[in-house]
Amino acid sequence: MPPLRSVLLTLVLVAQQALSQAPSFPGDQLCTAADIWPPGPGSRIVPQAPDAELTEILKQVDPKRIQATILKLVSFGTRHTLSSQTDPVRGVGAARDWIASEMRSFAARSNGRMTVTIPSYVQGPGQRVPNDTVISNVVATLRGSKEPGRTYVISGHYDSRCSDPLDFTTDSPGANDDASGVAVSMELARIMATHSPAATIMFAAVAGEEQNIYGSNFMATQLKEAGVDVQGMLNNDIIGSSTADDGTRAPFDIRLFTQGVPTVEFDNATEVAIRTMIGGENDSPIRQLGRFIVDVAQNSQTNMSVHLMYRPDRYLRGGDHKSFVRQGYPAVRFTEPHENYNHQHQNVRVENGVQIGDLPQFVDFDFVARVGRVNGAGLWSLAQAPGTPKGVILDASVLTNNSTLKWESDPHADGGYEVVWRATDEPFWTHVIPVGHTDTATVQLSKDNVHFGVRAVGRNGFRSPVSFPAPSPPPDLD
Ligand SMILES: *[C@@H]1O[C@H](CO)[C@@H](O)[C@H](O)[C@H]1NC(C)=O
Ligand SMILES: *[C@@H]1O[C@H](CO)[C@@H](O)[C@H](O)[C@H]1NC(C)=O
Ligand SMILES: *[C@@H]1O[C@H](CO)[C@@H](O)[C@H](O)[C@H]1NC(C)=O
Ligand SMILES: *[C@@H]1O[C@H](CO)[C@@H](O)[C@H](O)[C@H]1NC(C)=O
Ligand SMILES: *[C@@H]1O[C@H](CO)[C@@H](O)[C@H](O)[C@H]1NC(C)=O
Ligand SMILES: [Zn+2]
Repeated sequence: MPPLRSVLLTLVLVAQQALSQAPSFPGDQLCTAADIWPPGPGSRIVPQAPDAELTEILKQVDPKRIQATILKLVSFGTRHTLSSQTDPVRGVGAARDWIASEMRSFAARSNGRMTVTIPSYVQGPGQRVPNDTVISNVVATLRGSKEPGRTYVISGHYDSRCSDPLDFTTDSPGANDDASGVAVSMELARIMATHSPAATIMFAAVAGEEQNIYGSNFMATQLKEAGVDVQGMLNNDIIGSSTADDGTRAPFDIRLFTQGVPTVEFDNATEVAIRTMIGGENDSPIRQLGRFIVDVAQNSQTNMSVHLMYRPDRYLRGGDHKSFVRQGYPAVRFTEPHENYNHQHQNVRVENGVQIGDLPQFVDFDFVARVGRVNGAGLWSLAQAPGTPKGVILDASVLTNNSTLKWESDPHADGGYEVVWRATDEPFWTHVIPVGHTDTATVQLSKDNVHFGVRAVGRNGFRSPVSFPAPSPPPDLD
């Protein structure tokens, strides 16, 4: 018989688990309340589960269709940005036209909600572009029913490359880099076209990534100049393989790269100093978007563990999210957990009996579909929730043991607001305090010991990403 103490301990653990409504998915490893210092008000945060409509959307993500999309994109031989724009079967132009025609067929089932455009510009001679070159993105925009101005973007790049970044004639299949990401944009466009999100979603396939992220730069710059309120951008680039160089498989893991300090703050010493003085390096809108995606997309519907990476991208690499981050938009990047450099940016060849090249045989279509579901859960939850609260401040005018937050009230937050908090060394928000329909709240907990945030709640149950408050007034910067 086990000793009484261990029986009691087991009972306590079971009871704690029941109380915290710990989800059954093993990826959600919440520590117990007793592990958190300091103790404080509110209840433990439980991940947002998909509702019936989102569950239905995720079920429709089809690995067979994703496979067909990737094989079709590979069939254009090369999709190099400098390749032919007029040849009907080979080159970047044929790929562009095929993606656009597929997107239009999805739009035809959207009851007028989805429109397809091909925004283009002429890139003059520059990095990896010797002569004037037309760069075209394909964008399917699904108009939001309640807040059409609030916008989310999902993107993959349809251009490809081989060993020499200027070689536009040799085959460059780009099955993983980045037909996989384009396939996710297209599959979610297909499925969501028949649904009506509250906010607007743009499903993009961009070009010129391999030359110098030209297409995404054009898109992000245009959105910024038009004053579009982009509250999140998801970049999918190299999300096709679940197998490492040494054969190790990671079919249920995906990396999500998130920048800490936003690029737009680099040149403003005051902003860098304020962020530093309040310990906000880990709390940019980009990190909050990453935490949000983990919260809504790591569950039994996706069966994926989403690994939040505290860095903008891999070493020596960049991607289309960077174009959006540069404009001050929160943007993140999904990439498979183990990359095989023999299968990226390489001419297709056999060397010492080893097949080299970015070929479809190295893509795991079920894996791409699971990553697609992670994106679908993130994107749909963003678009259905109220927007991220704006103008959030933390009162830093007096020395006090309590903490007062204020924000701009948003009529679309029809379920009110929640204050969240976590110890400063916790990676994820741990506690939530519902505060109702208000634009201010005081919490009996010192701002010196925790980080606070505010999120908006929809009557439909969807919560927004967390907004991290600015200190008011700003701290002394001496
Ligand atoms: C660029 O233009 C020059 C002539 O102006 C031509 O010789 C060269 O082949 C062109 N390069 C490409 C990549 O089209
Ligand atoms: C730098 O940031 C501060 C605080 O946000 C702002 O008041 C100031 O206008 C910014 N300076 C520039 C040059 O953008
Ligand atoms: C779900 O993921 C786990 C690994 O976390 C794996 O063992 C299991 O087979 C997966 N289930 C399905 C249905 O894919
Ligand atoms: C803050 O709380 C501590 C005990 O938790 C108390 O000793 C102290 O007086 C309080 N300070 C203020 C300003 O309320
Ligand atoms: C918060 O603390 C301040 C200063 O100690 C005190 O005047 C105020 O009443 C407190 N507010 C609440 C809601 O506890
Ligand atoms: Zn890429």
